[in-house]
Amino acid sequence: MRNEEMDDFVERVNAQTDILSVVQGYVPMKRKGNRYWGCCPFHQENTPSFSVVPDKGFFYCFGCHAGGNAFKFLSMIENVSYFEAIKLQAEKLGIPLPERHKSPQELAREQERKDLRKVNELARDFFHNCLTMTRLGEPGLAYFKKRGIRPETIEEFQLGFAPLAWDKLSTAFLKRGIKQEFLLASGLAAERRNGNGLYDRFRGRVIIPIADERGRVVGFGGRVLDDSTPKYLNTPETVLFNKRRILFGLDRAHRAIQREGYAIVVEGYMDAISVFDAGVENVVASLGTAFTPEHSKLLLRYAPVICFCYDSDEAGQNATIRALSIVRDTGAEVRVIVVPDGKDPDEYIRKHGAEAFRALVQKAMPLVDYRLHYVLSHTRYDTLAGKVQALQAMMPVLAGIRKPTERSEYEKKLAQALMLDEGVVQAELARYRPEVLPKETKAPVRQAVVQQDDALRRAGRIVIRMAWQDPAVLAHVETILTLEKLADPVQREILLLLKQGLSEGRPVDEAMTAGLSDEASAELSRALVENLGGREETQAYEDSLKVLKKAELNALYMEHSRRANEYLQAGNKAYLDELNEVNKIKHEMDEW
Ligand code: GTP
Ligand code: MN
Repeated sequence: MRNEEMDDFVERVNAQTDILSVVQGYVPMKRKGNRYWGCCPFHQENTPSFSVVPDKGFFYCFGCHAGGNAFKFLSMIENVSYFEAIKLQAEKLGIPLPERHKSPQELAREQERKDLRKVNELARDFFHNCLTMTRLGEPGLAYFKKRGIRPETIEEFQLGFAPLAWDKLSTAFLKRGIKQEFLLASGLAAERRNGNGLYDRFRGRVIIPIADERGRVVGFGGRVLDDSTPKYLNTPETVLFNKRRILFGLDRAHRAIQREGYAIVVEGYMDAISVFDAGVENVVASLGTAFTPEHSKLLLRYAPVICFCYDSDEAGQNATIRALSIVRDTGAEVRVIVVPDGKDPDEYIRKHGAEAFRALVQKAMPLVDYRLHYVLSHTRYDTLAGKVQALQAMMPVLAGIRKPTERSEYEKKLAQALMLDEGVVQAELARYRPEVLPKETKAPVRQAVVQQDDALRRAGRIVIRMAWQDPAVLAHVETILTLEKLADPVQREILLLLKQGLSEGRPVDEAMTAGLSDEASAELSRALVENLGGREETQAYEDSLKVLKKAELNALYMEHSRRANEYLQAGNKAYLDELNEVNKIKHEMDEW
C-alpha cells in the first residue's frame, strides 16, 4: 500500500469523525460549558470524571487518567488496535479502505486461502449429502437419531457423514479436477505411506463443519459412532484452521451474544449444538483446547460477560478455574453455570429438557461466588490448616475484583465462612502480591486515603488549637486519646511538647514553640489561624476527638488483624487471642 494513499484515508476518516458522537455511542454525556461529562467506561465510578472537549477532539478521565483522541477511545473500548479502530470508524462513516497494492507473495497467499475455503465448502456439501441423500450415510443418521438430534438441527449445522471407506472423498474430488495439493493442504486427505495416492482423513465418522465467525468453513470435527478411539478427530492446523482462534458456533451465536449481553462457552461442539437446539443461541465451544486469550478477545467484541459451562467433572472444574485468569486479563467479566450431577450440558438437556437447562443459565454464578463455593466444598476449613488453605485459594480471585466495594463484600463473605475476622482476610490480601491488584482501583483508593488523611489532620489541628488556648483541654484529650499513638508525627510532636511544657509549669506562649521542628511550627500556626467552617468551637472539638479516636482504634484493629494472620499462617493457635482482641476493638469502634 502506498503511504500517501493511506495517509489520505486516515485524514479523511479523522476529518469526518466527531469525538462526541463516537463517545456518546457508548457513554451518556452531559454538557457543562464547553465540556461534556460522563461516567468513565474504563474504571468504576459513580460520579462523572470522564470528559470530552469536542473542539479539541480529545477525551480525558480525571479519575484513571485515560485519554486521547476518538480512535484511541474506540481502540480502548472495542479492545482492538489503533489501526483497527480507524478502520472500524471508516466503516461506520462509509469510507472505503484504499485498495492495497499487494506483493505477488501476498496475492498468492490470499489465493491459497480462497482455494482452501472453496475446497472446504465442497467437502461440507459432500459430507452432508452423504449423510442425508445416500445409503452410505445411514449409520450416521442412526447415530444422530440415537443422540436425539433433530433433522432440523442437521440442516442448521450442515452436519454430515464420512463414509467408512479409504478414499471416497479423495477420489471424488480428484475426479472433479481438484488438485491433490489442496486436498493435502486442507487436511482432508493425507498421502499413503507407500507414496501411492491419497487416503481420506475422516472415515466412518459423523462430521461437524467448523466455521469462522463469518460463517466460512475452515475445518471439520469427526466423531466415531461407537466407543473406539480417538473419539474425536479434528482438521489439523492449516492456514485457515487455528484452534486458538476459532470458536465453534460463533458464526451463529454472535447476534444472540450481543443481544443477551453474554456468551456461554461449553467444552464440546456436541454440547454447543444441543444447547443451541434447546433455544439458547448465545453459545460457542472451544475445540478441545484450553480457552485462550484470543478466544476471550473474540467474544469481547460482542459482549462483556463470558459464562463458562464446562463439564462438572474434576477436569471441567479445573479448566474453568484456569480459564478465569486468562479471561480476567482480557477484561471480561466471568460467570459460571454449574451443571449438576456430573453431566455435561448435552447430557443434562437430554435428561432434564431444555427448560431445565435454561433455568441453570439464569442461575449462573459470578466467578467469585463459584470459586468460594468450590473452595469451601473442597477444604476442611474447620481446622487451622484448612483455613489457611482456603484463604490462600481465594486470593487470586479476590485480588482480581476491580470494584473496591465489591471486593470488600467478598472479604466479608469469606471471613464469615471461615470464621475469621475481616481484617485477617484484608491483611492476607495486602500480603498477596499487591501488584496483582488491578491498576484502576489504585488511583481512587489513593485519593480516598489522601482525603481521609486531610480530615484526620484537620481534626488534629482543631484539637491542637483548643488545647493551646486552654491547657485544661489537654487533660481531657488524654482521657480519650493516647498522644504517643497519634498517627500524624507532626501533630504528635506539638501535643507532646505542650504536655511536657505544662508538666514543667511553663507558660503557653511563643517561647514554648522554640523547640518545634519547622513542620511542626508551621502546622501549629495553621492550627491557630484556621477557619473552623462556622461550627461552634466545642462541637468542632468533640467531633474531632471522635475522628481521631476512630483512627486510633482502626490502626489498632489492623495491627491485631495483621498479627492474627501471621499466627494463622504459622499455624500458631495464638491467632485466637489476637482475634479476641480484634473483636474487642471492633465493639469499641461501634461505640464511637
Ligand atoms: P460426546 O461423547 O460426543 O458427547 O463428546 P463430548 O461433547 O461430551 O466431548 P468430551 O467432553 O469428551 O470432549 C470435549 C471436546 O474435546 C470435544 O468436543 C473435542 O473437541 C475434544 N475431544 C474429546 N476427545 C477428543 C479426542 O479424542 N481427540 C481430539 N482431538 N479431541 C477430543
Ligand atoms: Mn457429551
